Amino acid sequence: MTQYIVRGGTPLNGTVTISGAKNAAVAIIPAALLIDGKCRVENIPDISDVHDLIDMLVAMGAQVQRVSDSTWEFDCSHVRQTKAPFGQARKLRASYYLIGALLGRFGQAEVAMPGGCDFGSRPIDQHIKGWEALGAHVEIIGGEVVARAGQRLTGSGVYLDMESVGATINTMIAAVLADGVTIIENAAKEPHVVDLANFLNSMGARVSGAGTDVIKVRGVSRLRGGFYSIIPDQIEAGTYLMAAAATGGSVTVENVIPKHLDCITAKLREMGCRITEFDDAVRVDAPARLRRTNVKTMPYPGFPTDMQPQIAVCMSLAQGTSIITEGVYDHRFRYVAELHRMGAQAQVDGKVCVVEGIDMLAGAPVKACDLRAGAAMVIAGLAAQGVTVVEDVHHIERGYENIIDKLRGLGANITRVEQPEPAAPVGAAG
Ligand code: EPU
Repeated sequence: MTQYIVRGGTPLNGTVTISGAKNAAVAIIPAALLIDGKCRVENIPDISDVHDLIDMLVAMGAQVQRVSDSTWEFDCSHVRQTKAPFGQARKLRASYYLIGALLGRFGQAEVAMPGGCDFGSRPIDQHIKGWEALGAHVEIIGGEVVARAGQRLTGSGVYLDMESVGATINTMIAAVLADGVTIIENAAKEPHVVDLANFLNSMGARVSGAGTDVIKVRGVSRLRGGFYSIIPDQIEAGTYLMAAAATGGSVTVENVIPKHLDCITAKLREMGCRITEFDDAVRVDAPARLRRTNVKTMPYPGFPTDMQPQIAVCMSLAQGTSIITEGVYDHRFRYVAELHRMGAQAQVDGKVCVVEGIDMLAGAPVKACDLRAGAAMVIAGLAAQGVTVVEDVHHIERGYENIIDKLRGLGANITRVEQPEPAAPVGAAG
């Protein structure tokens, strides 16, 4: 069992370099299956979701080589396998992009229903709607998505009922090699949607409109390969900015696209922080005490749901009462029970959480319920008085590269320790 031991109470100060965007990388890696040739991708973050996806590609016959810490070369031209390894695929969310890629390349796919963070129900009906519009027949059999087209997919119009990041990306991936034109309406506009489109175009695809509500994909017969560099991670950068704000510190996040952080820095300004923007860096200087604010999470360019637990920690320490409305998921407040262990005053009612700011959090044993909730527990521990022990940190390591060293570089007192698993109680039944 791996734990993080956090000794809090010290403001974070200094500069941290942001890694490549997880949610772009986890779409680009499966999309490499579409390419009939080699592609080299730079700025891939060193996180467990990336390794799981690469392992799956290799198991399916891809040749993958690590060229440097963050650069990988993919050659999927010899892949013939259309079934992904079941156990690995059902562990993570992004395995569903393998379905779009396999369908686009081979006209068939068998991939386990995806896993990922537990925020209540996370259906994939809009993904299925996209593939079916392109001519596939999709069934769920034995926990797997089984999709068959029997031939090349055919371009079509797809109207998404909600701005789903996953369904936008999956439809785009499936449409790249289809016959004719696909038009995705009510498309998601997140930076990683645009990054995937840029990646596909640099490999020879013809995608336009990414970053707007309407994306047009003109099918091409082949993707030839090439070179690409992934954008910096908006949410990783936002997490370090919030950590600086919660601890009363001053931190510069470098290797970022400041525009992608506007939705986050706007809220930090409202909470009393000073924000300074540079060409590829953003600095936050926290005030002596944060001020209250309200936030509603929304698709980009709204405030990201993936920053909701982190800002909740800042609100817990702010002067006054703040309100969070979760506008994307049904159930993303499970971590609030963990914050209560540290003394936070927060009440959840459905999709709304009312946070009453207090003077101080107190260190406690807590769990990382999911990736971003885990990051929030680390921030809370850094801001708290005393020692916080964060369990279930594998969730955090799915998405944050080298978080311990990066935080230590900012002056944090945090260590990663391995504890023996607790023995099962005598007489315990299975
Ligand atoms: N939805 C449906 N049907 C669908 C697809 C989505 O009802 O077919 C609903 C979802 O249940 C949710 C909303 O639509 O209520 C939006 O979901 P979306 O499809 O946009 O989310 P996702 O693609 O499953 C990605 C990120 C998440 C991030 C969301 C929102 C990846 C691998 N995951 O998930 O990232 O929260 O977009 O921005 O890209 C994270 O990085 O910590 C993370 C959870």
